Amino acid sequence: MSSHFDSTVLEQELSETLSAKRYQHSVAVGETCVRLQHRYHETFDERELCQCGLMHDIARDWNAKRLIQFADDHHLPLESEEKGCAVLLHAPVGAALLQERGFPEQLCIAVRYHTIGSIYMGRMGLLLYIADYIEPNRMHLDDEMRSSLLAEPTLEALCIRILEAERAHLLTKGKVVTHSGLELLHFLQEGGKL
Ligand SMILES: [Fe+2]
Ligand SMILES: [Fe+2]
Repeated sequence: MSSHFDSTVLEQELSETLSAKRYQHSVAVGETCVRLQHRYHETFDERELCQCGLMHDIARDWNAKRLIQFADDHHLPLESEEKGCAVLLHAPVGAALLQERGFPEQLCIAVRYHTIGSIYMGRMGLLLYIADYIEPNRMHLDDEMRSSLLAEPTLEALCIRILEAERAHLLTKGKVVTHSGLELLHFLQEGGKL
């Protein structure tokens, strides 16, 4: 079932609850999801897809204490990396909030895995993961890099580029990609499709 929510009402809600910067990012991720769908000929309900991008960071401005408390209270199943890094919890917490409100399952699953990437995130999750990384407000990409990414022939190839870039970026900071993200990278490199 596609989303029955009114996008204007959701935008209004987010504009009142998120920081201005986060709100702008959220709107841009929704628009980028739809742009990616056109570019790669996907067939999701456009309103649902846009709302997936719009709502993905619904819990991003919560503090660590609140995220941990919510995850505990709701017995959310977490990846090991998420247990040790509270900011990553905004994904499972956001997904649980949206599920409680009756958003479609594939949208909730996409939100669930948008931070770490997963072979379980579904095709909507693939669009969201990419859109979150390339939306126009992201200053870590210049126009040339963005165009080069969008020249990739498939969403899978594009996602591989992002995962590899993330891995290289994290290495410079002495960190590693999550187990889930690495599993996704290997799955896609071996020709896997979401
Ligand atoms: Fe996020
Ligand atoms: Fe985001």
